Amino acid sequence: MTESPRSSVPELTLSNSVRIPQLGFGVFQVPPEQTQEIVEDALAAGYRHIDTAAAYGNEAGVGAAIAASGIPRAEIFVTTKLRNGDQGRARAAFMDSRRALKLDTVDLYLIHWPVPSQGMFVQAWKELEGLYRDGYMRAIGVSNFLPEHLDALADQSQVLPAVNQIELHPGFRQAALAADTVARGIAVEAYSPLGQGAALADAEVAALADKYGTTPAQVVLAWHLGSGRIVIPKSANPGRLRENLAAVDLDLTQEELDTLDGLDAGSRIGADPATASFSQL
Ligand code: A2P
Repeated sequence: MTESPRSSVPELTLSNSVRIPQLGFGVFQVPPEQTQEIVEDALAAGYRHIDTAAAYGNEAGVGAAIAASGIPRAEIFVTTKLRNGDQGRARAAFMDSRRALKLDTVDLYLIHWPVPSQGMFVQAWKELEGLYRDGYMRAIGVSNFLPEHLDALADQSQVLPAVNQIELHPGFRQAALAADTVARGIAVEAYSPLGQGAALADAEVAALADKYGTTPAQVVLAWHLGSGRIVIPKSANPGRLRENLAAVDLDLTQEELDTLDGLDAGSRIGADPATASFSQL
């Protein structure tokens, strides 16, 4: 099951009624000079949801691929993110992203990290609320936010984040944070969904791949989809990006989802949002 998907990618409905394809294509670490070609290939394969960020330096390639694809703009869901160093100039930073992407609007704009040490994420969120009200984006959300950061937004602002994009893979399930996020009516988006490849070597994952005649990556992505999360795997490889898309054809049983839930080992790969500052981003 490594060819093009038989089924189309399911959509989830965000809290503001905007629909988002549940499986998207992430371009973190895709080199800027390769981004257009890879995203064009992802769109040709059938992806209709692309996740980039100002900090990745590859928004221009994403925009060029969308323009070259000939696919109507309304059929592609585009997410980008506010850099940490731009939290004090969110409106201007968004306009920079908009220019780089050559898009009038984006579908989802996220605060990339809370950077609590900077003390600016609530102010940045208020700027995002203004941009959202002005119609520059169909939804706004956050990334790497912990419950205390979500509390601060709930206390001091008006618009509920539509999503919280967090590190989430079999070795690092973040069950408490994910449940807290969902309980607030915020959709969970999983980044590094394959554990940057680490999850693919697991014996339980391999056993399910054998059972269904799929690849380990398809099993892990089916676990995300079956658990109701939005998921944005990345691959710079034309075969693997198609393989990942075809995971929409695999339905795991509840028991199998539970088995994979049991693989959590608290193995965070990325930074801890409570302390991450990433001033370089
Ligand atoms: P590559 O770009 O060479 O395919 P994550 O999305 O969790 O961050 O994982 C991304 C990593 O996993 C990348 O190194 C990517 O490498 C690799 N990867 C992506 N899809 C697959 C797949 N289907 N099988 C094996 N490795 C994959």
